[in-house]
Amino acid sequence: MFLGIDLGTSSVKLIAVDENGRILGESVRDYPIYYPQLNYAEQNPEDWWSATKEALKEIVDKIDVEVDEIESIGLSGQMHGLVILDENDKVLRPALLWCDQRTQEECDEITEHFGKDKLRDLTANKALTGFTAPKILWVKKNEPEIFNKINKIMLPKDYINYKLTGNFSTDVSDASGMLLVDVKNRTWSKEVLDFLSIKEEMLPKLYESSDSVGNLKDDLKKEIGITSDIVVAAGAGDQAAGAVGTGVVEEGTISVALGTSGVVFAAHDKFAVDDEARVHSFCHANNKYHSMGVMLSAASCLKWWVEEVNKNISFDELLKEATKIEPGSNGLIFLPYLMGERTPYPDPDARGCFIGLTITHTRAHMTRAILEGVSFGLRDSLEILKELGVPIKEVRVSGGGAKSDLWRQILADIFDCNINTINTNQGPALGGAILGCVATGKYDTVEQVCKKLIKVTNTIKPIKENVKQYNKTYEIYHELYSTLKNTFNKLSKI
Ligand code: XUL
Repeated sequence: MFLGIDLGTSSVKLIAVDENGRILGESVRDYPIYYPQLNYAEQNPEDWWSATKEALKEIVDKIDVEVDEIESIGLSGQMHGLVILDENDKVLRPALLWCDQRTQEECDEITEHFGKDKLRDLTANKALTGFTAPKILWVKKNEPEIFNKINKIMLPKDYINYKLTGNFSTDVSDASGMLLVDVKNRTWSKEVLDFLSIKEEMLPKLYESSDSVGNLKDDLKKEIGITSDIVVAAGAGDQAAGAVGTGVVEEGTISVALGTSGVVFAAHDKFAVDDEARVHSFCHANNKYHSMGVMLSAASCLKWWVEEVNKNISFDELLKEATKIEPGSNGLIFLPYLMGERTPYPDPDARGCFIGLTITHTRAHMTRAILEGVSFGLRDSLEILKELGVPIKEVRVSGGGAKSDLWRQILADIFDCNINTINTNQGPALGGAILGCVATGKYDTVEQVCKKLIKVTNTIKPIKENVKQYNKTYEIYHELYSTLKNTFNKLSKI
């Protein structure tokens, strides 16, 4: 039996899985997120740890299997967050999270120092406010007394792995999102470390995601009531772990995650980077590489529409109405930039809007336009992946939005390809468990376990006439951001 831990932004979720992918138990614990001022988002690493430990005890009590059958633990973690410890391993300040947007100035400084092209050559990426390196620079500039005390720098899941094993480790997929890694060569980038005045000893040892980083510590085993050895895997960032948990580990398979944010993720055998670094180029959790585009608001656009704007009507009713509307929503387009955007427009000022409203449009048109607008935004990332030469044989969709038949059909029509769903919705937690399973040495590769556990259960095919209609609308959608960029910027200053 294998434990998968998904250290998310609002909660930590644990699952216990057997070798056939059967879920034997689950436990979840929430923790708070703090927004001390506009654009700031922080969490206490100690909260992650106490929640994880409680959930670990609970799952061990709950599962109807001998505790000593637990063979491994594998973590998936929210990416990019900055955790810093002093020489006594005390957390120096709350972690700055992936969604914290305070570092635009630091991003500009890093980009200016290296130049856009050199930075891409060194790290395969561009400086984005979500990434870790600009957060380190922010602490250096704004809290020098804290910066000077830094002894260890780590990512959220690595803090938990440190607590579990006592070993200071990270994995290449999660570390890729720090902007400190030479992604192609899977090593720390000395030049970037030097610019930030960081010594390599302050950073964890880099592992492949399915490597073992040690065993569960004896004192913890005693506290939890376990006697056998439990291997802990290096784990992965939540996107790479989610891809493992949906079986997106082979070239040609693309995953689309329709969660709060929207992600288009492609696994590659070889390293590839876009000249403009419009999509993220990261190491994958299966010893290979991946590229991904991240939209900041995907299913959250629909959540906003249902929970904020249409409080008196049910989610199902709204979606039912939208099925009756023709593709293209009669010329109404929704731009989904409700929280700014990352891919392909890294712009915190970008805004959401409905374009093309007429007196003939109804609420149903607006609901459908939201589903279409988010799908067009995802297509923006897909088009970049196509330009990069990524083969696309199969698209697997997951996340809350994937439950809607209508949304999956719209995606199939806008992407003009088959959209598959699979036999599990455990995503990142299952990915973590799979990495842990490989870390025990029972299987040689992540791909082997994915093949065994993950199967396609449903396929939606594109409808030709809809594809034609959507291709026309997409052309207009695609021009809108550049037309409105200045307006967004002016609005942000009001
Ligand atoms: C990926 C990203 C998110 C966070 C939070 O680049 O920012 O997936 O890891 O889930």
